[in-house]
Amino acid sequence: MERIAIITGATGGIGQKFIEKITLQEDIDCIWAVGRNSEKLRALAEKYDKVNPIETDLAGEGISLISDKLKSESPVVSILINNAGTAYMGAFEKMESSKIEELCNINCSIPAMLIHTSLPYMTPGSRVINISSASSFQPNPYLSMYSASKAFLKNLSRALSVELKPKNIFVTCVCPGWVDTGMLPRSKDGKEIKYPGMISAERVVSKALKDSSSGKDMSVPGLFAKYFRLYSKITPTGLIMKQWVWGIRKYI
Ligand SMILES: NC(=O)c1ccc[n+]([C@@H]2O[C@H](COP(=O)([O-])OP(=O)(O)OC[C@H]3O[C@@H](n4cnc5c(N)ncnc54)[C@H](OP(=O)(O)O)[C@@H]3O)[C@@H](O)[C@H]2O)c1
Repeated sequence: MERIAIITGATGGIGQKFIEKITLQEDIDCIWAVGRNSEKLRALAEKYDKVNPIETDLAGEGISLISDKLKSESPVVSILINNAGTAYMGAFEKMESSKIEELCNINCSIPAMLIHTSLPYMTPGSRVINISSASSFQPNPYLSMYSASKAFLKNLSRALSVELKPKNIFVTCVCPGWVDTGMLPRSKDGKEIKYPGMISAERVVSKALKDSSSGKDMSVPGLFAKYFRLYSKITPTGLIMKQWVWGIRKYI
């Protein structure tokens, strides 16, 4: 039976790195690379023999398309990577309601639906990797919907890691700090934006695959995120939020 990996957000910085690493180091026959950008998907399929590009908008028909493909091909889902994500930085009251809906969908509902859809095709040893964020460690004003959505994904992930352990299906939640990808704006009103402790997608993905194959439920790459995780456990939330708002005041 064909062993597949499913990666959402395959065309983004972290998604592309997952494809590169999985091709090199995992026992996988085919990678279902899910994304919206046809040119980037085509380039990935040209570069990697194992890539099967699936062009779809996850906020639209994405889940039913993947579900139908699973039904018709009946592969073993060895690795599912919920990586697609969207962010909004700014005042909540200025957020378009369509963006609120899209963010909840892409960052919360779609990962849950995709795990649910893929589970019947998983066997002992299968792995789920959910890309959350260090933003899940505390509420972030002016990044409110994003940090709340990543906390949802972290809690879902950790709960499922316990529920699915008896089936030997391993669920890992990845919580990086700032990662050097296209998701981060580089300037605001002509001013360069600085991201403390920013790390490469390579570092995030190498650690995520290592932690996932060791059955760990959390993967926190980089000193900045590790420190932040500890700090958020021992510091009053109100104080952390004040410090966060002070740190980002130039950019909002
Ligand atoms: N960069 C960071 O600092 C950072 C830190 C912590 C966690 N993360 C998380 O890491 C994950 C990957 O992000 P990245 O840093 O690699 O950013 P990225 O390069 O912007 O990639 C985001 C990916 O999500 C996809 N996506 C967004 N909305 C979609 C939709 N409606 N349907 C299908 N695909 C959609 C994007 O596809 P399109 O190209 O079609 O838009 C893109 O492939 C995200 O979950 C993000 O929240 C990032």
